Amino acid sequence: MNEKAKATERENVTGGAKATGETTVTGGAKATGKMTVTGGTKMTGRATVTGGAKETGKMTVRGEAKAIGGAKATGWAGTVWMAPLRGVTLAPFRRLVSERFGGVDLALAPFVALGSSERMPVRLFADVAPDACGPLPTVPQVIGRDPVALRAAGRILRDLGHTRMNLNCGCPWKFVAKKGRGSGLPEDPDAFARMLEAGCEAMPGGFSVKIRLGYRTPDTLAARAELLNEFPLECIVVHPRTGVQMYDGNVDLDAFAAVLPLLRAPVVYNGDIATPADAARILSRFPTLSGLMLGRGLCANPALAAELRGAPTPPRKELAAFAGALASEYAATLCGPAPLMGRLKELWGYLHRSFENGDDGLRRIQRATSLPALESAITALAGPGAVAAHDR
Ligand SMILES: Cc1cc2nc3c(=O)[nH]c(=O)nc-3n(C[C@H](O)[C@H](O)[C@H](O)COP(=O)(O)O)c2cc1C
Repeated sequence: MNEKAKATERENVTGGAKATGETTVTGGAKATGKMTVTGGTKMTGRATVTGGAKETGKMTVRGEAKAIGGAKATGWAGTVWMAPLRGVTLAPFRRLVSERFGGVDLALAPFVALGSSERMPVRLFADVAPDACGPLPTVPQVIGRDPVALRAAGRILRDLGHTRMNLNCGCPWKFVAKKGRGSGLPEDPDAFARMLEAGCEAMPGGFSVKIRLGYRTPDTLAARAELLNEFPLECIVVHPRTGVQMYDGNVDLDAFAAVLPLLRAPVVYNGDIATPADAARILSRFPTLSGLMLGRGLCANPALAAELRGAPTPPRKELAAFAGALASEYAATLCGPAPLMGRLKELWGYLHRSFENGDDGLRRIQRATSLPALESAITALAGPGAVAAHDR
């Protein structure tokens, strides 16, 4: 449902999606009253539209294509997710993308590592505290293999007001996977089953996993489909690479095509979507997807989710202003120049791609050894609006 769109009887909400009946849809975000959204997904009765959507009144989402989010251009009624990138898609980034460009229904926050006990400080979850997240619906993510800790995390998150939790089953780093966490977890079916059970109990109706095709070989996910189908997962986010591939090489769309029909839960696709055309290609091959998740593409172009829905490419100075606002937030909250420089270098590691001569600009940014040098490199690439306000 489009930003600021109001749909009344028989009115189109966005490209292809139709909302009929007694309906008011506002701001990609609110659905009130009785409502049927056609074009892939039907919502009737009393229930839950998750993501990008806050609904009141009586309403249900039923059936396979449970929509977590709003209607999209192209008639596809799925959800656009922001992927988690540790060190980049932190709360200020998520908020500013949503406020300035829109298009994102739901964000998956970067992972919080679980220990192996019930005791866990609430401050671990500061990045997903309601104040930090703002209005963008956000799903907290955890990583670990201890069901007791997972249940404890669920309790903390519910106390913070969350109704969803995602388990990272895809982190590719060897030191993580070899301990049976991240992409190593599904390799151990018993430990995986215990975590699925604990997660579904800890966050009823709102537990999901993010997973790869396997750690070493691309067949683990298919081998675990039956196990996954035993649990009422809200959705399964699939990044169709193996763990050992890290983020390199091609996504394996044939393996993804083979595994998709085996999974009962709604599936969200994630991987290598850098342009609206990439998204369209994925959706035309896999029209039943419940969602698309955008990672590095969205970090390189924070307007990507909006562009997927038909918004025009914003002028570069809007991207620069976004970077400037983000830098100002970080400057106000981080202590000292070193953490700020680290944060900005990570951001510009992606964002440079949206600017002319981005590769040259990035080299200068990476070489900077002081905050003034870094800010002058950023200014040279993107203009004076791209650095923190106090330095302009
Ligand atoms: C720097 C970096 C940090 C990441 N952090 C996380 C994370 O915290 N949790 C997670 O599930 N995936 C994480 N990922 C994986 C991304 O969410 C995503 O699955 C991956 O980048 C592929 O999608 P993309 O091609 O759209 O970027 C990270 C990836 C990168 C490059």
